[in-house]
Amino acid sequence: MNQQAVRLRDVVEADLPHFFAHQLDPAANQMAAFTAKDPTDQAVFLKHWRKVMADPGITVQTILLGDAVVGYVLHHNWFGNPEVSYWLDRRVWGQGVATAALGTFLQQTAVRPLHARVVMDNAGSLRVLEKCGFVRVGTDHGFAQARGRQVKEIILRLD
Ligand SMILES: CC(C)(COP(=O)(O)OP(=O)(O)OC[C@H]1O[C@@H](n2cnc3c(N)ncnc32)[C@H](O)[C@@H]1OP(=O)(O)O)[C@@H](O)C(=O)NCCC(=O)NCCS
Repeated sequence: MNQQAVRLRDVVEADLPHFFAHQLDPAANQMAAFTAKDPTDQAVFLKHWRKVMADPGITVQTILLGDAVVGYVLHHNWFGNPEVSYWLDRRVWGQGVATAALGTFLQQTAVRPLHARVVMDNAGSLRVLEKCGFVRVGTDHGFAQARGRQVKEIILRLD
């Protein structure tokens, strides 16, 4: 566990270049699977994030480790059910940061139930969600851009 404090705050424009850099990582793309078609396309990235930041149905927070911007956590309603999503800078993986950030985020939001969708071999993300109280409630499948094929997803819910 990293001893530096994990904190959340509202997203500011200056965070976007950090998020862009985080989502360029090939290993992270493989892991998340449901990604942008071309993560190197900055115009598409910025258009997506401007939409996210303007959407009143989305709650999004920047994750700070100490003073460093290391990721984001959000919930959206794009597919009918409120769903959480997050992405961390690969340089801080495996230090409990996602678990701490999601735990704080869940304390700050009253929305329940919350759902999550995770490609079935994303063991780290499944572990984060289950450590935060999500339980597996079903499966689905969809086309994963990062892998160029259909993949099976696990659906989780927090009541
Ligand atoms: C998934 C992700 C958020 C995890 O962030 P993180 O800060 O490393 O997560 P944490 O350190 O809080 O917890 C990870 C847990 O998964 C476990 N884990 C990681 N990889 C694993 C693997 N291959 N098999 C089993 N467990 C694994 C860790 O041991 C840890 O559990 P523990 O605390 O019981 O030891 C991060 O890897 C990421 O951003 N990935 C790219 C984007 C992504 O996949 N987003 C989620 C889409 S659903």
